[in-house]
Amino acid sequence: MYGMVNEGIRTFILDNHGPEAWQSICETAGLEELEFERMSSYDDAITYKLVGAICSFTGLPASDVLSIFGKYWVEYAGASHFGNLMRLAGNSFIEQLKGLDDMHDRILLSMPHLKPPSFEVDQKDDGSCILHYYSDRDGLAPMVIGLLHGLAKETGESIEVNQVAVKSEQADHDIFEIRILDTALKPMRTEAGI
Ligand code: HEM
Repeated sequence: MYGMVNEGIRTFILDNHGPEAWQSICETAGLEELEFERMSSYDDAITYKLVGAICSFTGLPASDVLSIFGKYWVEYAGASHFGNLMRLAGNSFIEQLKGLDDMHDRILLSMPHLKPPSFEVDQKDDGSCILHYYSDRDGLAPMVIGLLHGLAKETGESIEVNQVAVKSEQADHDIFEIRILDTALKPMRTEAGI
């Protein structure tokens, strides 16, 4: 994964547990460097090792660590210059969800080794939607749940997410059902973005 993701994990730990915790997590993960180049691509194993070391440090299962980090990531990455790409798709959760593939494709222009996820959104008549999540990687479905809650928080909405199918030898992707509990609470921006 790009260093930006590992830096997001580092910032999250520094904000919540401090520099000694980060040092100890890096030691457990067997890493020599305590910082990452945001725009360089690193072996995925580093990110998975960091998650494992955070599990040992906090006593939380990997699914909780991934989900908590996913929610944090949207705020963290949204504050970077890439955040505007996410907001380009529209003001609502659904619009931004539908724009995720375009957003990751645009990021690919600056990060050529990116292996972005891919999403398909099927909206249902009752306002809920089915989300198909495709990835080259395994085990990140809990992070997607956190990411979705983080996205809803950004648009001032509140959602319920249930995973309804799990990627396995028989199924090539994960599937989620999403219900929107509260529609946009934030004031809508005008065309001029004011
Ligand atoms: C401004 C906001 C965002 C930025 C800048 C961003 C950027 C990135 C970057 C750099 C990666 C690492 C991929 C790699 O190194 O190969 C990544 C991965 C990922 N992103 Fe985003 N992202 C954003 C928001 C979101 C949101 C809102 C979602 C979903 C709701 C999402 C879903 C994912 C997933 C699931 C991965 C893991 C890769 C995989 O599944 O294989 N991202 N993103």
